[in-house]
Amino acid sequence: MRRPIAELWGTGSYTPKRVLTNDEFSKMLDTSDQWIRERTGIRERRVAGADESNACMAKAAAEQVLADTELTALDVQAVVVATCSPDRLLPSQACDLQAILGAKNAAAFDVGAACTGFLYALNVAEGLVAAEQAEHVLVVASEKLTSIMDWTDRTTAVLFGDGAGATIVRRGTTGRGILSSYMKSDGTLAELLYRPGGGAAHPPDEALLKDHSYYIKMAGREVFKAAVLSMADACDKALARAGLAAGDIDLLIPHQANIRIIEATAKHAGLPMDKVYVNVDRFGNTSAASVAIALDEAVRCGRVQPGMKLMFCAFGAGFTWASTVVQW
Ligand code: ACO
Repeated sequence: MRRPIAELWGTGSYTPKRVLTNDEFSKMLDTSDQWIRERTGIRERRVAGADESNACMAKAAAEQVLADTELTALDVQAVVVATCSPDRLLPSQACDLQAILGAKNAAAFDVGAACTGFLYALNVAEGLVAAEQAEHVLVVASEKLTSIMDWTDRTTAVLFGDGAGATIVRRGTTGRGILSSYMKSDGTLAELLYRPGGGAAHPPDEALLKDHSYYIKMAGREVFKAAVLSMADACDKALARAGLAAGDIDLLIPHQANIRIIEATAKHAGLPMDKVYVNVDRFGNTSAASVAIALDEAVRCGRVQPGMKLMFCAFGAGFTWASTVVQW
């Protein structure tokens, strides 16, 4: 087992105040609480209000991790934000976050890997620390997905929610930290999960809003199968790189997209469900933010204890997928 180069130091998260239940959805769309619960495990999700921008949620999560670590924004040399639902396309969400946090000594940029974004961002942060480009990297995953989902499409609208999670990545000090990672993408499958319009190829116009191509489109069944196989493969690869077996893992914190995907991934990985952290029932799929929010919650409720070995895994648009093994 290699000695970690970088560790995750402290956690933070923010989820919006507004809770939207399945029953409320069934009043807007041809769906039901029973269908959503049975097919996804989701009971409710959080929806950001007008005063809860992506930047505001990211800031709240960042402030929590700064308080946790007793750092100030000035102690951070890099701000890395994972998001696929930024407040605006230019500049990056990270630059907006840097400005409102006052992280004046940092370089700031976004990582775009959809639901896998937090794990990709941890890899980037580890690299910055290893190259001595930064002592403290603020990694934030923040999503306002409800602003880019089609509220009239029952096949996607019921799945998503908003929120943000954060951590600080710094040089490993006491054997704690990232033991291994595995990242992979397959851009040939992009159109199974994507936003067709709104970018430079199809700039915003009236047609875009009319045909709903501004919003997330997903071939659910294909994504489901790929998510299970890819996350299971990523877990195997990350475990092998760490020289560990599934039995060595104390807690799996997977991307929270669907309880059936989580259960199938855990089964493939050879982990019982009592070693898997689940909060998809309360937050739905918060894309990049999902593992970061779940990690913060698991730390704060005592489910994560010093000395534990954690494994994260995620899958998202791209397709992108990844797994990271961490000594806590
Ligand atoms: N309420 C009621 N019925 C519905 C709903 C709904 N909300 N949504 C779909 N249905 C219907 C369909 O129209 C279909 O009806 P039909 O048989 O008459 O055609 C039927 O239910 C079955 O549809 P499926 O798509 O086969 O349902 P499935 O069991 O696959 O569940 C789901 C759909 C929940 C989307 C699932 O496929 C899934 O979770 N996919 C993966 C999502 C995911 O992991 N995304 C991760 C990345 S997200 C990101 O990167 C931003």
